[in-house]
Amino acid sequence: MCGIVAFTGTVDARSILLGGLARLEYRGYDSAGLALLNPKTGLIDIIKKVKQPGRGMVEVLREAVPENSASAGDDSFFVATGIGHTRWATHGVPSVANAHPHGDCTGEIAVVHNGIVENHTALREELLARGHEFRSQTDTEVVAHLVEEYYVACNEDLVEAVRAAVARLSGSFALAIAHAKHPKELVVARNDSPLVLGVTDYGAIAASDTPAIIEHTRDVVYLGDRHLAILRADGSYECQDPAGIVYVPTTVRVEHSLEDAERGGFPDFMLKEIYEQPRVLRDTIAGRFCAANKCEQAHLNFDELSLTQEELRTIERVVIVACGTSYHAGLIGAELMEAWARVPVSVEVASEFCYRNPIVNSHTLVVAISQSGETADTLEAVRLARRAGAHVLGITNVVGSRITLEANTTIFIKAHLEISVAATKSFLAQVALLTLLAMHLGCVRNQLAADKMAAIFSELLALPEKLESMLADVNSIKEAAEKCKDASTMLFIGRGVGATTCYEGALKLKEISYLHAEAFAAGEIKHGPLALIDPSANTPVVALATQSATYEKMLANIEEVIARGAHVVVLATEGDERIAKLALQGIDVIYIPKVPECLSPILASVPLQLFARYIAVARNCDVDQPRNLAKSVTVV
Ligand code: G6P
Repeated sequence: MCGIVAFTGTVDARSILLGGLARLEYRGYDSAGLALLNPKTGLIDIIKKVKQPGRGMVEVLREAVPENSASAGDDSFFVATGIGHTRWATHGVPSVANAHPHGDCTGEIAVVHNGIVENHTALREELLARGHEFRSQTDTEVVAHLVEEYYVACNEDLVEAVRAAVARLSGSFALAIAHAKHPKELVVARNDSPLVLGVTDYGAIAASDTPAIIEHTRDVVYLGDRHLAILRADGSYECQDPAGIVYVPTTVRVEHSLEDAERGGFPDFMLKEIYEQPRVLRDTIAGRFCAANKCEQAHLNFDELSLTQEELRTIERVVIVACGTSYHAGLIGAELMEAWARVPVSVEVASEFCYRNPIVNSHTLVVAISQSGETADTLEAVRLARRAGAHVLGITNVVGSRITLEANTTIFIKAHLEISVAATKSFLAQVALLTLLAMHLGCVRNQLAADKMAAIFSELLALPEKLESMLADVNSIKEAAEKCKDASTMLFIGRGVGATTCYEGALKLKEISYLHAEAFAAGEIKHGPLALIDPSANTPVVALATQSATYEKMLANIEEVIARGAHVVVLATEGDERIAKLALQGIDVIYIPKVPECLSPILASVPLQLFARYIAVARNCDVDQPRNLAKSVTVV
């Protein structure tokens, strides 16, 4: 989604804004722009560019930003104040006119916005009727004109003007507003879209996400809904609630490092993040297991859960809501919860759940999974569930994110900052955490014996090392990817948690390589997908056939697709001799270490992530920033 950076201070704002925007590029964008308060002219310079193929947006923008906003050769001044934006189009095509910042009629106001102003049509008509001239198709531009009107009405009090303008907006917004007559301050405001603030010795900064800030400060403030803040060039800020009452906000220390936000020698963030997964697994598992002692059986530690054991026992249903990759993690979690806790679990795409009057009540545990904690549909689902009286457990990666404020309880996965748009390590951390949660529910509800739980846990403990050994030799994955890179479409098949692992594998491939792929429960291929297979059709099949209760059935499915002329890539357990024989017939095999079926998604997902990435690289795709996609989807 769109990225925002705003800075006012005693050092040059241009480099801080460009540096911040560069750190937000991972969110996905189609255009970008800056508004700089030019101290020579007393006006605002607005520079906007549309993304060019093969070039970094910020690089293009940097070239367009004059060394010196006023007159070439004069380096005796700096730009103290400015706002910057990377846009991901919602209203209006990607174009220079629609890129942010947007201005008012006087040219004195500039606005950047993340989110959607839902009542923009009515506001635009109202403003047009009063003579305002619009230059873009965006919903955002109404904000600039509203501030313009209220600025006059509020006797040139910018803060009051912004408060009055914001009160007219419905929908979601994070806004940063600059005014030429207020060169040493900026006003920011938000509702439902993230906005983070921080101060340094050399100024005050706000951004839509922490990577744009942590170079300057690690102590940040997450602004509340419909609150606003004034950033001042002396390095201070003032937060105000919707009524204008000034308050001292809570500061949160950001733990992830700047290095986390950089590639650390890997060619892309996705590869770096894939290789971080053993560490992420270790961090996710750490501290959860309590061994048996004289008084207690072995159990898991879930102190964050605000539900008592009695409440966990009386839950009648679990509903998991999520989007994208998090939804796939939810599907795996659901299978394990049903198996171990014997509680009915449904998994719902959040954007559907919100609009279909689902059955949720005070006996329902709603688990909302969101890496970013900001996905608009998942947040809507959380609100619906809370209104219906359910207890909402949020699972997220981001401290201070929206979901942590709206859910009853939050558990953090330990994936640390994830930059690549395609989720990898956050998925693995979600699956590992849901596995632990399913075990915990099973034990508390007396459906999973403590010794069985302890046995599964010790298998889980062994996974990081197994993952490391897999990541040490990825040649078979590279070779399979090379053979499949020109496919016309690809089918992924598996059974049980293997089918869900395939859904995620196919999504990864589509997201980053633009190669069409679909995943199916393998038993379903006879009911349609088999018709796609033809020796001349170049439709490879990826089959997940690790050791499981349905292994024999998977072998039969593999034979079926081989018989129809498909090239097959099989994920199999190390030492599987029957698969080794099939390999002699020309199929590709990727071996993974032996693991119980319930934990197989954690190991099997990783070669599928790499497979997608190698194909994407072979097809010259931008692995970290796939076209049209965004890391955090903050609009519904
Ligand atoms: C976007 C991202 C996906 C992610 C989905 C849900 O589509 O590109 O990688 O799975 O949003 O995001 P969340 O932050 O809620 O997990």
